[in-house]
Amino acid sequence: MNLRRQMFAIKTVRMLEEEMAGENRLRRVLGPVSLTALGVGAIIGAGIFVLTGLAAHDYAGPGLVLSFVIAGLGCAFAALCYAEFASMIPVAGSAYTYAYATLGELMAWVIGWDLILEYGMASSTVAYGWSKYFLHFLELFGLHIPPFLASDPFSTPGAWFNLPAAAVVLLVTVVLVIGIRESARFNAAIVVLKLGVVLFVIVAGIPHVNPANWHPFMPFGLTGVASGAAYVFFAYIGFDSVSTHAEEARNPQRDVPIAIIGSLSICTVLYIAVSAVLTGMVPYTQINIDAPLAAAFVPYGLSAAVFIISLGAVAGITSVLLVLMLSQPRVFFAMARDGLLPYEFFGTIHPRFRTPHKATILTGSVVAVVAALFPIHALAEMVNIGTLFAFVVVCTAVWIMRYTNPGQRRPFRCPMVPLVPALGIIFNVGLMFSLGWHNWARLTIWLGVGLIIYFGYGRHHSRLAGAARTAHSGLNSSFRN
Ligand code: ALA
Repeated sequence: MNLRRQMFAIKTVRMLEEEMAGENRLRRVLGPVSLTALGVGAIIGAGIFVLTGLAAHDYAGPGLVLSFVIAGLGCAFAALCYAEFASMIPVAGSAYTYAYATLGELMAWVIGWDLILEYGMASSTVAYGWSKYFLHFLELFGLHIPPFLASDPFSTPGAWFNLPAAAVVLLVTVVLVIGIRESARFNAAIVVLKLGVVLFVIVAGIPHVNPANWHPFMPFGLTGVASGAAYVFFAYIGFDSVSTHAEEARNPQRDVPIAIIGSLSICTVLYIAVSAVLTGMVPYTQINIDAPLAAAFVPYGLSAAVFIISLGAVAGITSVLLVLMLSQPRVFFAMARDGLLPYEFFGTIHPRFRTPHKATILTGSVVAVVAALFPIHALAEMVNIGTLFAFVVVCTAVWIMRYTNPGQRRPFRCPMVPLVPALGIIFNVGLMFSLGWHNWARLTIWLGVGLIIYFGYGRHHSRLAGAARTAHSGLNSSFRN
């Protein structure tokens, strides 16, 4: 196949469905409640428990409530597009697979590579956030990890690496290798606990809200609110990971859209309430940026609340880590199945556990190293720009597919196309522009490295191109005969 044709070659929905019938399948064990729990499990985590502190303190002030509304809207538009795709193409790989079916192989690779950034780096960010609450929790008992093992060398002079962050990643890796059924159950239990703690923050915090703290409402103006939105966007990441489990869903057409939209809606309402309570309890200039929700209760002498929130955050953030690290190897798996990554490594499923164990172990190792060495705000911003980019592509792809495959069965239809995808594109591109230029530079470098790998490896091993070559040479030899 010539280069240009290969770059724009698409996998038809029929091809995707045929692959689903193949042998090397993931088990169909997830129902609507488990899927929604996976969504909530992936969404509520370091974003609300940790990043809200810096977002209110440095960017938005009490206007953080608006930041959450703006970021939530961007996600809602993208979620409707994800839901249409997930119901139409219920195979592993999420946005990567959607791009392959609409925009061609090169764009699919770009998105797959971008999703590695999203899930991989987000896992490191979350592990870092986890370590902040873990340290806070230990302090309640007078326990301390030596400072040189408790932070990254960039944000804390003298620190070597963040030991708790790396340790939790390695622990989660072990759980994931053992299997999804066990992991999903573990996740569901933690999700209940986490929702309880978030509700607790709201209910226990309301009596301590002083409306005077909400003035000035937007100390850094609308620009600050927009920057806050681009930063706390991280708190919403995860609903899309539900679609990476479509292949493991018992009834993907119905349950995946329910889970995506349901989990996003639950979290949006909670985030708006939590940020209103937090900025009402503490003047934004005094909000703690490491463990803001727990620390907000300290001045009121509510040590039981501090204990409950810290414990809930530690457990809750663990479940985010679990879902993100569950998603990453599944994106690798989908890419390897197409020949764009080495199948012998990324496509191998463990004979007993039925999990992509090699990819999981690789993911865990890289995530642990990054979490140990880099600062949380830089990681979060890089994840955000990569994810926003993926959302823009998904919104575009849904729109395109309405023209290229109008007759395709769509058990869930995104409403008001093209308005909703267009708004998704506008909001998410707007958020990308609210992140500093250095994030654009990092995204460009990441995608540049990805292109080198595609042209050096994927392009030559692509199964789609291989199949086209075989068909082509068969045609030539029958002409010769
Ligand atoms: N939304 C997830 C979190 O906030 C990634 O931790």
